[in-house]
Amino acid sequence: MTDRHKSRQRPTRRRATSTAYMQVLAEGASRRAVLKGLFATTALAAGGFAARLSPAFAAAPSSLTFAELERVTDATDHWPEGYRRQILLRWGDALFPDSAAFDVATLDGQTAARQFGYNNDFTAFLPLPQGSDSSDHGLLVVSHEYSTPFLMFPGVTDEDWRDKLSDARIAAVAAATGLSVVEVKRDGADWKTVLDSPLNRRIHLSTPIAISGPAAGDDRLKTSADPTGRLVLGTISNCSGGVTPWGTILSGEEGGMDVFAGDFGAIPDRELVERQGWDEEDNDAYGVGRLDPRFRYDEEPNEWMRFDWVVEFDPFDPAAPPVKRTALGRFTHEGAQVAVAPDGRVVIYMGDDDDFEYLYRFVTAKPWNPGDRAANRDLLDEGTLSVARFDADGVLTWLPLTQGTGPLTPENGFASQADVSLRTRMAADLLGATPMDAPEGFFPHPRTGRVYVAMTENEDRLPAGDGDSAEQVNLANPRAPNPDGHILELTPPGAPDGPDHAADRFAWDVFILCGDPSDPASGAMCNPATSANGWFTDPDNLAVDPEGRLWVTTDGPPDAGFNDALYAMDTEGPGRALPRLFYQPPVGSEVCSPAFTPDGKTMFISVQHPGELRLDDGEDATGVADAGTNWPDFKAGQPPRPSLVVISREDNGVVGV
Ligand code: FEO
Ligand code: CA
Ligand code: CA
Ligand code: CA
Repeated sequence: MTDRHKSRQRPTRRRATSTAYMQVLAEGASRRAVLKGLFATTALAAGGFAARLSPAFAAAPSSLTFAELERVTDATDHWPEGYRRQILLRWGDALFPDSAAFDVATLDGQTAARQFGYNNDFTAFLPLPQGSDSSDHGLLVVSHEYSTPFLMFPGVTDEDWRDKLSDARIAAVAAATGLSVVEVKRDGADWKTVLDSPLNRRIHLSTPIAISGPAAGDDRLKTSADPTGRLVLGTISNCSGGVTPWGTILSGEEGGMDVFAGDFGAIPDRELVERQGWDEEDNDAYGVGRLDPRFRYDEEPNEWMRFDWVVEFDPFDPAAPPVKRTALGRFTHEGAQVAVAPDGRVVIYMGDDDDFEYLYRFVTAKPWNPGDRAANRDLLDEGTLSVARFDADGVLTWLPLTQGTGPLTPENGFASQADVSLRTRMAADLLGATPMDAPEGFFPHPRTGRVYVAMTENEDRLPAGDGDSAEQVNLANPRAPNPDGHILELTPPGAPDGPDHAADRFAWDVFILCGDPSDPASGAMCNPATSANGWFTDPDNLAVDPEGRLWVTTDGPPDAGFNDALYAMDTEGPGRALPRLFYQPPVGSEVCSPAFTPDGKTMFISVQHPGELRLDDGEDATGVADAGTNWPDFKAGQPPRPSLVVISREDNGVVGV
């Protein structure tokens, strides 16, 4: 499920049952005795969540000393006193010397393909020269997750945009998605884009992209335009992502099927259609089905199979085509965060962002080569994809999704590894993976070796004994329903000195159960010193800054009555799990993907879908006319613009401290 769906749904808020919560605490206490033997070196064995949040520590401060914001919902954004905020790139800004100036009156597909796209989400800063630790010169890589046609053009609404927008404008809507790469430089206190950089690039719905790995060339990936099944045009729904040790970018395609139109009945694999979570209401999200027959199921029943992969591309080589890596599986890819095992094998953590979906991990067959960048080019085509099962004893087991092992046999529909790649969710079902509460952000902590993973929320989680067992509470998803979400902490053996991210079994614990800690019915569990502004719900992107603190963005608190925002917290010491409110975007927006320069003095963040909600009543905006804001330009009658924001300290110190 993409964020677009979630924001449309506006679910009724319900409370967790205290029974399920007490059961978690009781079972959690007993399982830790088992863990002491298995993971003697981990902090988890030293007492777990409750002990590390003992009231004795509650009065001690967080290492984050910024002046915490007060919650507010208004038309503009807010950052702490003593900090400065710059808007570096807005939707429609130039990326090249020949980019047209932003003007929605003349915007068409060709123009949009040369400008910064819409709804920027994933954000990475890669120092230049490549491989250096420069903190004042680098490449920004930014994804543009989706477009919202009725908020881009004045004069149309969510009801009539398909009828009213010209073909040229529909082409612009589509071309505003994908990814941007742009060289940036610090100039005094400000950052500037370098428009004549040879590295600047737009990747969008017409960019040629190779298909590699086990499913490449499979009949199910062949179309009339591509009888090889190895070359697709474009990438869609680029949500979060990651950076490999050799400096390539991974981008998760999250829910590309929304872009397709027409009759679903034409798709041969009906079982897969059902399992991928079909939602007819969200069909044809950009109207491109009328421009290009490949986006109509009845014309090209296989084209949809060529999306919802992880895409790898080299931002330092604009001529190199991106590649869809099918070894990493096909599902609603949120992101792809990277760690390295002690033996040099590369480990990629991936969440499947939908209710009751799974956590995945890919481990390369071979170690990466730090001395020869080109040698890593196809490293992600060979390795082991696994899915997580959370055992009641506090041990996480990674179950290999390898054809020919366990139930992944021809009799069960898995005759090749291509079958596993193309029908990943169904393979994971057979292995008995643990259904999670809409997993999104993952982040391996570089100092402690622990891995954090955010479950956004799940309104449909059921109490023990109700409905299908897969939908009932489990220790890793302990609240029913779970409207507030939670963050888990996974500990590989060998942490902190030599965490083995490729190990078959990890320890795990709850880091935070989100929600209002002053309301016992919420079942929230966080540091007792958390302020009335600091608690949050619906965690989405996670990041660790160079000082080792965890930053969390949210996607959903409007349902709880306040804005999405950005929070920071320690993972160790007295400030562990003590979130503090750092940045608030304008009404209707979501903050995404904090990225830091190596010195920790500059933070880049994405602000997507500003004004998506109305300011007066918090309901969905229906067009530019009732959008909650037209941030950041504040030009009457003009649309709000998703933007890339830069935050630094006025005294040029480290952000957050
Ligand atoms: Fe694009 Fe899962 O948020
Ligand atoms: Ca989300
Ligand atoms: Ca979003
Ligand atoms: Ca997300």
